[in-house]
Amino acid sequence: MRPVWIKNAAQLVTLAGENGPRRKEAMSDLQLIEDGSVWIENGEVLAIGSTSELEAAFEARAQEADVVDATGRLVTPGLVDPHTHVAYGGSREREFEMRLEGSTYMEIMNAGGGIHATTRMTREATENELVEQTTRRLDSFLAHGVTTVEGKSGYGLDLETELKQLRVMKRLNESHPIDLVPTFMGGHAVPQEYKGREEEYIDVLVNEMLPKVADEGLAVFNDVFCEVGVFTPEQAERILIAGKELGLIPKIHADEIKSYGGAELAAKVGAISAEHLLKASDEGVRLMAEAGVIACLLPATALYLREDAAKGRAMVDAGVAVAISTDCNPGSSPTTSMPLVMNLACISMRLTPAEALVAATINAACAINMQDKVGSLEVGKQGDVVMWNVSNYQELQYLFGVNHVHSVWKKGLQVVG
Ligand code: NIG
Ligand code: FE
Repeated sequence: MRPVWIKNAAQLVTLAGENGPRRKEAMSDLQLIEDGSVWIENGEVLAIGSTSELEAAFEARAQEADVVDATGRLVTPGLVDPHTHVAYGGSREREFEMRLEGSTYMEIMNAGGGIHATTRMTREATENELVEQTTRRLDSFLAHGVTTVEGKSGYGLDLETELKQLRVMKRLNESHPIDLVPTFMGGHAVPQEYKGREEEYIDVLVNEMLPKVADEGLAVFNDVFCEVGVFTPEQAERILIAGKELGLIPKIHADEIKSYGGAELAAKVGAISAEHLLKASDEGVRLMAEAGVIACLLPATALYLREDAAKGRAMVDAGVAVAISTDCNPGSSPTTSMPLVMNLACISMRLTPAEALVAATINAACAINMQDKVGSLEVGKQGDVVMWNVSNYQELQYLFGVNHVHSVWKKGLQVVG
């Protein structure tokens, strides 16, 4: 593979710094290089600096490389999406209409739609059909500058289909340019066949599903939907502790629809991140800051459900490391656009343009334990790079709702543009 030499970038965002979640003022520190340049070789960043610095070091080798002129353009690390439900079957556009006609998300789910509808369609799909449908979504992520994606199971809710979803993600992680990081989410809902026998389902999840998933090494994280009418905080805790004992790191869908002690539980069980948090209590946010739990905020979901977004500004100010994500799923957020999510982080949560970019790169990488490889452009990290059709990072957030991606490299290989 030929090296790639990107030079003359109007702004090169490196995000060099502490290899951990950025909080408070550190969320505004982009480590920008004006007239920046990066040399990628063997899939990794070999050198990064000003164009004149890299010219001095690499001019003699210029013939060997694909040289990319980034004059007038912004260059950033590949975006990271730390929370998706990307590997699902089917589609739910009729529910979109039903919500516009007045039904709520939970009403639709309790009537057998929502997560249950996608569970039926995912159970029916073959592994190859799921690979094919998920590939299209991953291609769309790449086209929006996203080079690393977390993906959850949770549309199987039985051992066989949960494993099928996780195997689909394993196959795609191996065959698709995107790094796909797997999360087991058998705790996404109580399947309809266990209605009224919730504890029995949790027994199956804890005693059969989790050990099998851990044994086959099919997931890194274990997530649960802690919500009124889904799993109580006590049930969620049992599921998360059982996973933790098997080496699966806890994550929680917390306080999305109702305030339910999810943020507090995230701090208590040592979750790597808590997701949604629209209705998180002030005390829960304080406990998350204290315990170092990353807040993974999903402003596109709030918009799509026509709810007020999470209090992102207050969370950053309280010292919580904030990451952002699409929540890509067929019900509450059918989008693959992390650029739109960055725009919304600014517009509906009052993050600054710099904070939104940190939340979509290094903090997102930390939320899925990928910070050693991705999330910033530093020597030795993966050559995951996006070149944008704007000249600075403020413009990226200001010209909203537009895909400004010009080209994308994954591990030094050009995959878009
Ligand atoms: O994160 N809240 C629960 N799970 C997903 C939605 C899943 C669905 O509606 O299919 C979410 O919003
Ligand atoms: Fe989700």
